[in-house]
Amino acid sequence: MARVIVVGSGIAGLTTALSAAAHHEVVLVTKSTLGQSNTRYAQGGIAGVMFAEDSVEAHIIDTLAAGAGLCDEEAVRVLCTEGPARIRELVAFGVEFDRTDGEFARGREAAHSYPRVLHAGGDATGARIEAALVARIRESRAAILEDTFLVDLVVEDGRVAGALLRFADGEDRFMPADAVVLATGGAGQLFPYTTNPAVATGDGAAAALRAGARLADLEFYQFHPTALTTAERFLVSEAVRGEGAVLRNAAGERFLAAVHPDAELAPRDVVARGIAAEMAAQGGLPVVLDATMLGASFLANRFPVIDQAVRASGIDWSRQYVPVSPAAHYWMGGVVTDLDGRTTLPGLYAVGEVARTGVHGANRLASNSLLEGAVFGARAARALDTDDVSAWPAPPRPVVTIARNPVSDAPPFSRAELQRVLWDAAGLLRDGAGLQHAAAILDAWSTAPLPTDSIRSLEDRNLLVLGRELVLAALARTESVGAHARSDSPAGVPATAKFREVAPAC
Ligand code: SIN
Repeated sequence: MARVIVVGSGIAGLTTALSAAAHHEVVLVTKSTLGQSNTRYAQGGIAGVMFAEDSVEAHIIDTLAAGAGLCDEEAVRVLCTEGPARIRELVAFGVEFDRTDGEFARGREAAHSYPRVLHAGGDATGARIEAALVARIRESRAAILEDTFLVDLVVEDGRVAGALLRFADGEDRFMPADAVVLATGGAGQLFPYTTNPAVATGDGAAAALRAGARLADLEFYQFHPTALTTAERFLVSEAVRGEGAVLRNAAGERFLAAVHPDAELAPRDVVARGIAAEMAAQGGLPVVLDATMLGASFLANRFPVIDQAVRASGIDWSRQYVPVSPAAHYWMGGVVTDLDGRTTLPGLYAVGEVARTGVHGANRLASNSLLEGAVFGARAARALDTDDVSAWPAPPRPVVTIARNPVSDAPPFSRAELQRVLWDAAGLLRDGAGLQHAAAILDAWSTAPLPTDSIRSLEDRNLLVLGRELVLAALARTESVGAHARSDSPAGVPATAKFREVAPAC
C-alpha cells in the first residue's frame, strides 16, 4: 500500500482522499480546519446534465464557448460526461440538493443554455457538499492533519518523495510519500478584492512551481462580477441574476444590454468588464444589483446565506439596491495535468482549482468548478491505484524565470502593496506598460528572499512568486481573450474599463 499525501480539503481534495483511502494510506493535510476552503463558500451550485431535456453535448458547447476557444476539448468532454455520475455520488454521500415537486430544482446561471445548476440549502451548495464530504472522510481510514502547512514539495531523483510540512507545533518536518496530490485551491489573496477566504494563497501552485512542475494559463484570472462592496467582498451569486435580478448604474439605468445581447446573463468576464467600465464612467462608484422584484420571502428562502450577509450590511434587498463590484474569484490557470490529475513531475498530482486541466480555457463557465473537483478528484484517485511512478517520464529541467529588470524605487514589500500592484496592472484590464512596470516591481521584491518564520510569511512568499508568474504570463499574451483583457490588444476593450473604487457604499 502506498502512502499518499493529499493537501487541501475542498471538494477536490476530499473526493480524492475518500476514494484513495480505500486502497492507500492517505494523509489529508489542511492548513486550517477541515472544511475551510473555497468549496465551502460556493453558492450558485454544481452544473451537470441531470434532466432529460438537457444534453451532455449542450453542456460541452456552453463550456467551450465560455472558455473562448482555449479549452482542451477532450478534458471538457470528460468533465461533462462524467459529471452526472459524480453528482449522483454526492447525493449518495448525503448531499440533499434542493427539489421542486420532487425533481431537482433547476438553477440558471450565466452562459448556460439550459438551467442545469443544482443547488443545496438555497445558496449554501458548497457548504452542504463540504459538510457531507467532511463527515464521510472522518468515517474513513484517512489520517487528518489540520493546521498543517505545505512548506515545500521534496523532490529526490527527479520525482516527488514527500512534503516538508509545518505542523501545528510550529516545527517543520519531512513526511515521505509515494505520491502527493495538490488540492490547495486558488489564490484570490493575490488581489485586494476577492470572494475567496483568507486561506486562498496559492500554496500548492507555488510549491509545484518551485519543485519544477509545469504551470500554465496563469494570465487567466476570473473576476466575479458581483461582490458586495463591504470589506469582505461577500459573493452575491450569479444565480440571483439567474432568477431575474438586474444591474443598474448610478442613474438607476440598466446598462448591460448595450454590452452583450444576454445582458446580465452574458459570460462572467463580459459582465465583469461591463461593470468595470460603468464604474469607471461614474467615477468609481459601484453599480447596484436590483433584486427588489424577487420579493422578501423568495430572497430569504432561495438565498438564505446572501440574504443574511446583505441584511447584516444594513440593506433590505427586497426594497433597496445592493452595491456590487467585481472581485477576484477563480484562477483558470494552474499546475498542468493530464486527464487523471498527473502533473509533469513524477509522483505529483493536482486536482481542483490548483490544477490546469484545460476544462476552463480563458474563462470558466459558472458552476463548473465544483464539478471539476468531483470529476478529476475521482479520476486522480483511480490513477493512484494503477500508476507506476518509476515509469513516469522525468520532466524537462524546470524553467526558472529570473529577475530581469528590477526597479530601484520599488516600495517595500507587503501583501497589501503586492495586491495593489496586481489589481492595478493585472486586474480586469491590462496593458503592456502597466504589466512591464508591475513586473519590474515584482522583480525587485524577488531579488531578496522573504522570511519564512511564520505561516503568513510563507503565504507571502507564495503570493509573490505566483503574482510574478501571473504578470509575466499576462505580458506574454499580447491579445485579449476571455478573462485576459488588454486595452492595447487588437481585440479592443474599452480603455475606460479600469476602475478604482472611490466609495465603498456599505
Ligand atoms: C456564483 O454563485 O455566482 C459563483 C458560482 C461559480 O463560481 O461558479
